[in-house]
Amino acid sequence: MKYYLTTPIYYVNAAPHIGHAYTTIVADLWRRFKRMQGYEAVLTTGSDEHGVNVERAAERAGKTPKEFCDVIAAEFERQWQLLGLQIDHFQRTTNANHARVVNDLFKRCRDNGFIYKGSYTGQYCIFDNLYVNDAKPSDPCPDCGRPTETITEENFFFKLSAFAGRLLELYESQPEFIQPETRRNEVMSFVRQGLNDLSITRTNIKWGIPVQGEAPHVFYVWFDALATYISAVDGIKSSEGEELWPADLHLIGKEIVRFHAVFWPAFLMAAGMELPKRIFAHGWLLFEESKMSKSRGNIVRSEPIRQVMGADALRYFLLREVVFGQDGSFSYDALVGRYNSDLANGLGNLASRTLTMINQYRGGAIPEGTEPEIAALANDTIQAFQDAFERFEFSKGLEAVWALISAVDKFIVKWAPWKLARQLEDSSAQEQLSTTLYTAAEALRIAAALLYPVLPQSTPKIWAQLGMPEPIESVRYDTLGWGGLKPGQTVGEVTGVFPRIDLKEAVANMRALEDQATAEQAVLMGKKPAEPAAQASEPAKITIDDFLKVDMRVGLVLTAERVKGSDKLVHITVDIGEPEPRTLVAGIAEAYTPSELVNRKVVIVANLQPRKLKGITSNGMIVAASVGDGKPVLAGFHEDIPVGARLK
Ligand code: MSP
Repeated sequence: MKYYLTTPIYYVNAAPHIGHAYTTIVADLWRRFKRMQGYEAVLTTGSDEHGVNVERAAERAGKTPKEFCDVIAAEFERQWQLLGLQIDHFQRTTNANHARVVNDLFKRCRDNGFIYKGSYTGQYCIFDNLYVNDAKPSDPCPDCGRPTETITEENFFFKLSAFAGRLLELYESQPEFIQPETRRNEVMSFVRQGLNDLSITRTNIKWGIPVQGEAPHVFYVWFDALATYISAVDGIKSSEGEELWPADLHLIGKEIVRFHAVFWPAFLMAAGMELPKRIFAHGWLLFEESKMSKSRGNIVRSEPIRQVMGADALRYFLLREVVFGQDGSFSYDALVGRYNSDLANGLGNLASRTLTMINQYRGGAIPEGTEPEIAALANDTIQAFQDAFERFEFSKGLEAVWALISAVDKFIVKWAPWKLARQLEDSSAQEQLSTTLYTAAEALRIAAALLYPVLPQSTPKIWAQLGMPEPIESVRYDTLGWGGLKPGQTVGEVTGVFPRIDLKEAVANMRALEDQATAEQAVLMGKKPAEPAAQASEPAKITIDDFLKVDMRVGLVLTAERVKGSDKLVHITVDIGEPEPRTLVAGIAEAYTPSELVNRKVVIVANLQPRKLKGITSNGMIVAASVGDGKPVLAGFHEDIPVGARLK
């Protein structure tokens, strides 16, 4: 039976980072998991290539939009290959069949009376390709905070307003349509407020899919982008001849839930087409307290992590450490910590001690004998793991497997095979030794098979070391139960699968490679290599006008307190000569106590876009030098200086 799942198609105006990798890794995990359950799972991803943003990025890179897209789309594909992700179809919105599918969707909606021509005047965010209803000129975009632009033009409109009732019925009758529950509630309350019609074409963009017979209209990016889920599998059938559409699962990040759970089903309803079965919107990966994004410059890439720790270490960390559906922080230290405690000491150690003992005490042949308690626990784990995964509770599913690993560890210690091995003349000791070794090896086999979707590069090694004849990916969970390991089978050569990693060294290596990757990706985006690393030795030259754009003022810190739940952040109010003090959140709590800050004169960047950190809106930035491994030292003055003075 087919199972069709998708990731978002990523914008090509930013190079891939682990935020994109997160969704794509989970999709790959899910594809493998569904295959282990016997489905013919198909995964598509791709690139979202049209729109003003891309046009501008290409211009900056000195390329045509198509040339630029070719480079970045190839880079996304390359990253997924490096990570070993099994992607069935990589669909680009510039592929020829895609334009046909988009026009077909449009025509169906139009023939059914859900599309009309109208005039649009309003605010538009070119960065998010978002029309911002009810906004005034230069109001900020609700998503990214950048100023919106006013536009007036003739557009085709989609009658979204006609679908509120049907959408609510859909959410009510199929509660699993949008998950998790928080996102479902959010979408339902949005739809309950009533829906405005949606402009789905534009006339002032050149880089877009032309609306057939309606020049100069081109499709608005979301109408274009969402149709990828259909065009990616257009004409492709499962081996049993089933159509792949409708999708069984759209995996997305939470910020695009509205497009997927409101617009997309409405387009499909209007076109008289089948709806996807389920949308799961996961949370954000945060780095240094905020969402990783190109504009904030706080990006981590997967490649340095893969090179130093391996792709499985990254997968394991993301699935175990982050509760799927909620936001989670990425940190190099936590990544290495998890690897050492759970993979090197946990699974890796169980594998090497068990297999080494079978070699030493049983000449490499799997002995016979089962300890019923461990067998029962292993069989329960097969169920518990799948139940948790079915609910997208990956972390819980992994906990269940690690509970089995630690029970087997304790069981080995209890029977101390190294002692039993010395009692050569005692047949019951020898029997107990065989039982202990078989039980540990069989539990290891079950753990490895369960974990294959999570650790697809390392579990096949454990599998081969157990001497299993068939490939691990051909295992099916419904026949995995206790007893599959055949006594007499010979184990393979035993090598450590997860060698321990030195924290300091690994983090230093990853950071160094990260700097290199930043520079390489900047070149891909057409920037000069020195530009992205603003702190690097040779910052790019700017004009005096560039400098004067930065409004730096002298401020006096009035209050300071640590931000709850953060080691780094401090919440301060600063008098900068305005009627009201400014609220700032600064990452200096490790270097300064609140009392050291109060009454101190500091330098503030006063015209920075507001930014929310831990729920507090920060209206500016405190200026500090960064020394050593990033310790901040506040800028200040020797002379007494009035509050509000501008730095020039
Ligand atoms: N092109 C649209 C999607 C169209 S789908 C028909 C788009 N592209 S994007 O490049 O911005 O990718 C957004 C997606 O990338 C998120 O929804 C999520 O899947 C993933 N992520 C990007 N940054 C992320 C984090 N920092 N954390 C978690 N996921 C992140 O939106």
